[in-house]
Amino acid sequence: MAMRPLVLVGFMGAGKTTVGGLLADLLGTSFVDADDVVTATAGMDVPAIFAAEGEGGFRARARDAIASLLAAGPGVIALGGGALREPTIDRLREAATVVWLDVDADTAWARVQVDGDRRPLARDEDRFRALHAERRAIYAGAADNHVDATPAAAAVAAAVLGSPIVRPGALDRLDGLVGDRRAALIVDDEVVDRIPGAFAVRFAIEGGEAAKSVDGIARLWHALADADLERRDLVVAAGGGTVTDAAGFAAASFRRGIPWLAVPTTLVGQVDAAIGGKTGINVATKNDVGAFHLPRAVLCDPTLLDTLSPRQWAAGFAEAVKTGLLAGGRLHRLCAGWEPGPGTVEARTDLVRLCSSYKVRVVTEDPREQGIRAFLNLGHTIGHGVEAVAGYGGLLHGEAIAVGLAAALWLSVQVRGLDPAVLADTEALLVRHGLPIRATGLAADAVGAAMRGDKKRAGGRPRFVLLDAVGAPVHGIDPGDELIARAVERAVSSAP
Ligand SMILES: NC(=O)c1ccc[n+]([C@@H]2O[C@H](COP(=O)([O-])OP(=O)(O)OC[C@H]3O[C@@H](n4cnc5c(N)ncnc54)[C@H](O)[C@@H]3O)[C@@H](O)[C@H]2O)c1
Ligand SMILES: [Zn+2]
Repeated sequence: MAMRPLVLVGFMGAGKTTVGGLLADLLGTSFVDADDVVTATAGMDVPAIFAAEGEGGFRARARDAIASLLAAGPGVIALGGGALREPTIDRLREAATVVWLDVDADTAWARVQVDGDRRPLARDEDRFRALHAERRAIYAGAADNHVDATPAAAAVAAAVLGSPIVRPGALDRLDGLVGDRRAALIVDDEVVDRIPGAFAVRFAIEGGEAAKSVDGIARLWHALADADLERRDLVVAAGGGTVTDAAGFAAASFRRGIPWLAVPTTLVGQVDAAIGGKTGINVATKNDVGAFHLPRAVLCDPTLLDTLSPRQWAAGFAEAVKTGLLAGGRLHRLCAGWEPGPGTVEARTDLVRLCSSYKVRVVTEDPREQGIRAFLNLGHTIGHGVEAVAGYGGLLHGEAIAVGLAAALWLSVQVRGLDPAVLADTEALLVRHGLPIRATGLAADAVGAAMRGDKKRAGGRPRFVLLDAVGAPVHGIDPGDELIARAVERAVSSAP
């Protein structure tokens, strides 16, 4: 892929220097802090430049230093928050990938105290917090993507490499990523007119589970063969989760694997399906044939979501609610206060960034689902049973997950001491968004059997992801047959 400079922005205490150094090692490139370039060029430290040339003088020097760093090509660059102003923001957009290392005010403050930071701001907690709040909008506006900078630096660096680009206009990066390769676009026909670029072939398909069938994948293989794609070429998959799952699997399997880019165009796709490298199709059961094949990049433009039907939006929102329950904090509050529908572009960008960065973080720590990646299955144990019995297509996946979430929270109240208010609030939230919390009319036995069938392959009894509290999930829990049966009964009962 075409390498651009990787620019890290974020508040004091976000770990730009440590993470930047690690990233430079991982990428085999250099790391520089733009402020160091300014002081080295000036032969003075920052206070001295301010004294001699004023703030304007310092800003001009910073602007020039950044311009020359960007012109120097690939490398990792850390920027001070004050540097994010025009015309630098425009230049960054043209020439770099800007990653926001997002750290909450408490963590940032604790870190600068430990570091014994001597900057004046690091000693005045009120000013520190006020500036932290003020800067968020600036980082959000300038960044291509967003990474939770709370974990240890190595985990943050890995997450930066796996994180999607999430911003309005993200598709302006397609051309550069395709470069001089031959690329085949496999695109959902609902969005075919919204994906720009010159492709060797444009192959439009109907979205939906049929795309993930044996016939569907055969058509994709033939399309790639007709386009004479080689292993150095590229597949670009644009659409909902069904299209990215199928086209990603076509890329994983054609000529034993060719690189691909994902352009998710549904909320499910942007917060979940296109992230983490799982691809596949449905043969005897859902997702039973597939491969891990990480896309080279994921481009999420939240403005693409404005044409989703209310039902498709809500189904994706159920996964966002799930992620909010797992992550807690700002994402949970954002979901709890969300008005039905896609909201403003800014809020939607924030929602997609927070959900996708949580998934990236979990998946980076546990790529092959041996431990914490299981958290993402909150609501999916009973949810999958409900989905299977309703018949794929009877309920959308996200709708079945809404039912499954209610069931998982109920079990959490019974066996983990979860505050019952979390259950009540979440059920009310799901209902407000037009989502079901009970699959009324389904046979409990059938749901239980489908759920057990699902788990037999995983080696035995159903295991649950439950919550001790919002933001505090646990996995591998067996609540016992009686409680599981009661949870399933409740899930198929009439809604309260
Ligand atoms: N690989 C993973 O890790 C993973 C994770 C979660 C879900 N999934 C898979 O994702 C699939 C569900 O994804 P989905 O909900 O995106 O379904 P989908 O792909 O069927 O898309 C839903 C509908 O929206 C339409 N559509 C797509 N983009 C649109 C747009 N911008 N405007 C209007 N309509 C648009 C599609 O044509 C389709 O009719 C399932 O097959 C599921 O197994 C995979
Ligand atoms: Zn799901």
